[in-house]
Amino acid sequence: MSPYAHIIGWGMAVPEQVLTNDDLAKRMETSDEWIQSRTGIRERRIAESDQTTASLAYGAACEALEMARLKPTELDLIIVSTSSPEFIFPATACLVQDRLGARKAGAFDLLAACTGFIFALNMGTQAIRSGSIKNALIIGAETLSRLVDWSDRSTSILFGDGAGAFVLQASEERGGVISSVMRSDGSGGDLLCLPGGGSHAPASLETVAAGKHYIQMNGREVFRFATRVMTQATQEAIGAADLKMDDIQLVIPHQANLRIIEAALRGLSIPMDRCMVNIDRYGNTSTASIPIATYEAVKQGRLKAGDKVVFVGFGAGLTWGAAVAIWSGLEPGARKPLPVGLRFYARLRSFIRRIMRRIDALIWGRHNPYT
Ligand code: ACO
Repeated sequence: MSPYAHIIGWGMAVPEQVLTNDDLAKRMETSDEWIQSRTGIRERRIAESDQTTASLAYGAACEALEMARLKPTELDLIIVSTSSPEFIFPATACLVQDRLGARKAGAFDLLAACTGFIFALNMGTQAIRSGSIKNALIIGAETLSRLVDWSDRSTSILFGDGAGAFVLQASEERGGVISSVMRSDGSGGDLLCLPGGGSHAPASLETVAAGKHYIQMNGREVFRFATRVMTQATQEAIGAADLKMDDIQLVIPHQANLRIIEAALRGLSIPMDRCMVNIDRYGNTSTASIPIATYEAVKQGRLKAGDKVVFVGFGAGLTWGAAVAIWSGLEPGARKPLPVGLRFYARLRSFIRRIMRRIDALIWGRHNPYT
């Protein structure tokens, strides 16, 4: 029988810097009242100059590993879902792998915008269910504050920075992620995009001048699409898990807009008290929003071992999806801090590998196989 993929650890990391609606109203023509009534957002977190997608991802990963009482060296797979990677390449996941010293893990990035965490969760789950791996680290991390035009009031008010992570582990016991739905519709790609910097419009003075390196969005169209697909995907995932809506204790939706969440829940006839919402404090952290909301739901006692939970999201692509999980909870026993020397060990390992590569290049440079 295929092993199940249990969620055995979770973590989050957000910058300390808070940007409130009132702060924004000092910079542009908007108001706390407008933003709250249209989006449900009160404030968001913004990365400091020394914080990046990889550093937030690393922070969330460390906490999730501590909770799971797993060493980084036991990881087989690391997936970082992000639309604001550290670089186009190398993958942010490889930077996290190096910082953790997760020497056995394959690492790659996944880009499905705000739906990315659900897609990554499904990929990690399927790798475990196939029997090819035992432990996976799934991270959603963003610094979208670096990609918004701070003079555009229709987009800059929405986004915040942060990261969340799950550790998945194989187990013969039924539980963990039991169904997933992944959908895309590229015909709507232009509704939400970052047009510059890729092969279509490589960075140039013209792309910078035209503002092509900022997020562009047709808010109304995205809103309409989102309310429709959130309901559909939730129903499909619950059906695929052979469950009914009443069996679900908690819905954890992508935190894009409170009005979208409310409309989706109305469509599902699920009361809001069975839904996790924390958009008021973090804004839309894109692919990080679901693991961050999950982390807080557990902390608030709203998600307990044995509960059935639906994660549902939508985003650029267009993409959308949902997953149903039986919440595993923590094994009895204290959280195990990662060894103090871990950070040092991972840095040392990384440093030694760089030196070895140089020595290798010196030796082999004299016998270049390509000449
Ligand atoms: N403050 C004050 N007024 C504003 C602001 C603002 N921050 N932004 C826009 N307005 C004005 C507009 O200029 C417009 O004025 P006008 O009527 O004089 O032209 C008016 O408010 C209404 O604008 P709309 O765009 O129609 O406002 P709407 O009610 O649709 O709300 C919003 C806009 C919040 C962006 C909404 O459309 C939305 O949430 N859409 C979904 C967006 C979303 O979820 N995106 C994330 C996707 S996830 C991902 O993949 C990254």
